[in-house]
Amino acid sequence: MVKTIHILNGPNLNLLGKREPEIYGHETLADVESACAAVAAERGHAVRLFQSNHEGEIVEQIHRARDEAAAIVINPAAYTHTSVAILDALNAFEGPVIEVHISNVHKREAFRHHSYVSLRADGVIAGCGVEGYALAIRRVCSLIG
Ligand code: DQA
Repeated sequence: MVKTIHILNGPNLNLLGKREPEIYGHETLADVESACAAVAAERGHAVRLFQSNHEGEIVEQIHRARDEAAAIVINPAAYTHTSVAILDALNAFEGPVIEVHISNVHKREAFRHHSYVSLRADGVIAGCGVEGYALAIRRVCSLIG
């Protein structure tokens, strides 16, 4: 049975490829989606990518994932460090959750070292560039079978 993995992205990641390329690289979210789709397809699964600059929309997408997704890969971007609402929504999701950061947040400013989402995440990938998303898809495919 084909299972769907939701890939959720927080604020400013719509600018991926254009935004601070020295930190986040030149690839776009469309590139991320096609790389992840290829990895999921090898295991017979599908992905759906979502991006929002609004915290409440991310919360609502996590609610939809309760019915529509077998797993979540999430880069909450700046909301990683601030959002109890996203943590609470993820706590209401039953499948595996992998947190991804393109940059190594632990090498950066102190305010990026704390993640609310890590209190829920089953795994965290940071500092692997956009390849981190495909690594996360590989991991959730192992977890969902
Ligand atoms: C990020 C790291 C966050 O601290 C930052 O606010 C982002 C992107 C990353 O992918 O490295 O927007 O989540």
